[in-house]
Amino acid sequence: MASPADRKQEQRAASRADDPAGGPLTTDQGVEVDHTDDSLAVGERGPTLMEDFHFREKLTRFDHERIPERVVHARGAGAYGWFEPYESCAEFTRAAFLQDPSVRTPVFVRFSTVQGPKGSADTVRDVRGFATKFYTSEGNYDLVGNNFPVFFIQDGIKFPDFVHAVKPEPHNDIPTGASAHDTLWDFVSLQPETLHAIMWLMSDRAIPRSYRMMQGFGVHTFRFVNAEGRGTFVKFHWKPKLGVHSLVWDEAQECQGRDPDFNRRDLWDAIAAGEYPEWELGVQLVPEEDEFAFDFDLLDPTKIIPEEQVPVRPIGRMVLDRNPENFFAETEQVAFHTANVVPGIDFTNDPLLQARNFSYLDTQLIRLGGPNFSQLPVNRPVAPVRNNQRDGYHQSAIHSGTNYFPNSLGGGCPAHAGAGGSAYTHHAERVDGHKIRRRSPSFQDHYSQTAMFWNSMADWEKQHIVEAFRFELGKVGARTVRARTVEHLAEVDGELAARVAQGIGVPEPSGAGAPYKQASPALSLESLRGDGSI
Ligand code: HEM
Repeated sequence: MASPADRKQEQRAASRADDPAGGPLTTDQGVEVDHTDDSLAVGERGPTLMEDFHFREKLTRFDHERIPERVVHARGAGAYGWFEPYESCAEFTRAAFLQDPSVRTPVFVRFSTVQGPKGSADTVRDVRGFATKFYTSEGNYDLVGNNFPVFFIQDGIKFPDFVHAVKPEPHNDIPTGASAHDTLWDFVSLQPETLHAIMWLMSDRAIPRSYRMMQGFGVHTFRFVNAEGRGTFVKFHWKPKLGVHSLVWDEAQECQGRDPDFNRRDLWDAIAAGEYPEWELGVQLVPEEDEFAFDFDLLDPTKIIPEEQVPVRPIGRMVLDRNPENFFAETEQVAFHTANVVPGIDFTNDPLLQARNFSYLDTQLIRLGGPNFSQLPVNRPVAPVRNNQRDGYHQSAIHSGTNYFPNSLGGGCPAHAGAGGSAYTHHAERVDGHKIRRRSPSFQDHYSQTAMFWNSMADWEKQHIVEAFRFELGKVGARTVRARTVEHLAEVDGELAARVAQGIGVPEPSGAGAPYKQASPALSLESLRGDGSI
């Protein structure tokens, strides 16, 4: 039987368009065209004729070349490669692609910036997306991560607010200030849960030297499930073999002018030259019994699990060894989705993850023009697809037979696989409680881990963070926003707040200069055990 990698290659080969250089020019209907340099007109200087179907088709096709860019992560670069596990992970997960070190699973990875449009520069201060599609023998698994281990908000219902604040101003599509957004900093200063990710954003991690030198994180706590149905919490980490390297701010700015494609070109050129980038996949594993063993909530995506508490265990490696053949067909049309999981990998109740599980398919239905985008070569699973889902825009499969189940007349597919076996079964988590629209108290400590991040920095890294805050906040027009942000920084670390305040002309907040002390004892997460209500 062909390997998953061979099957992916066969699919791509079957979708390859005929070589246009290999024969005469034709219309989309296959009719040969005499030449394409002049339109059909009445006489040499007369009006153009509507009758010229080649002219009309050519312009129409051009007029419709663009599709909506992604609402976030619009600018990106992708590559194909493979993943192989070091050893079987059967103890924790039954995911087929994590069982056998001799089986390589094909992957497609897309790296991206988040805020800017498709034509923006690569080396801006921003989060980077790190999305991986594993074409496994059991269906597609998407690990849709970032190069920061924490996110800016805790609940997906805030995502539209956050992104509206991050994007340029609605009236003129220009950020206020020279390069910073009053709106972003206004949001940050009013929503302190953003602070931990904001510290990462002000650090050198937000200006990576290369996509090849970037860590990736699944961010959320996910769940592994083994063949016996036992769940284990898991955080995913990608570690680059080349190490983690960043630009310094002056370099980043110069690159924006000299080569806006700096990161994309670097990835492409390295792969073209046979210098294949490689990452190690690591996991932090937490037994379900230890859900409440930490002084933060595992469901809170603004928190890491410190590696001193739970070490990262390497489980496999990924190599990217092939550039796409067509940017639009592959890198632009690839559709990642956090809900694309395979047996052995499941979700948790992280409210950000739950929102993502809705949002990606929803946006792709419009971005990729209807429900059939999983038939596109870059999205198509190597596992067989059998169901009664039919029709819709851009249906390219020719299905036969009836399309309902149960069915005694023949056709109608497929028989239910039944629970167990190779079918996906959702983890049987016990859930009950009262419906409430309220943030859990276990999500309320926004400062401890932010302070931990700041304290883990070397002096020169701290200096870069201070300079970044001064650069960004110093361009915010609203002085109240500057001052309110610095007050939040004082909750993290007095010295940080004082140094930033001195650079942007706002008063040093009271308490500035003092190191951070956790105000309240560790939250009693134990109180959340039980029926889940508060
Ligand atoms: C892309 C929504 C949080 C990583 C996107 C897209 C949407 C979206 C709508 C565009 C997808 C497309 O057009 O195909 C959301 C929502 C979030 C959220 C609603 C929170 C509720 C996150 C987080 C991460 C992340 C926490 C990282 C862990 C990415 C990546 C892409 C992306 C990597 C680009 C995928 C690609 O390369 O095509 N997100 N996102 N997002 N998101 Fe999120």
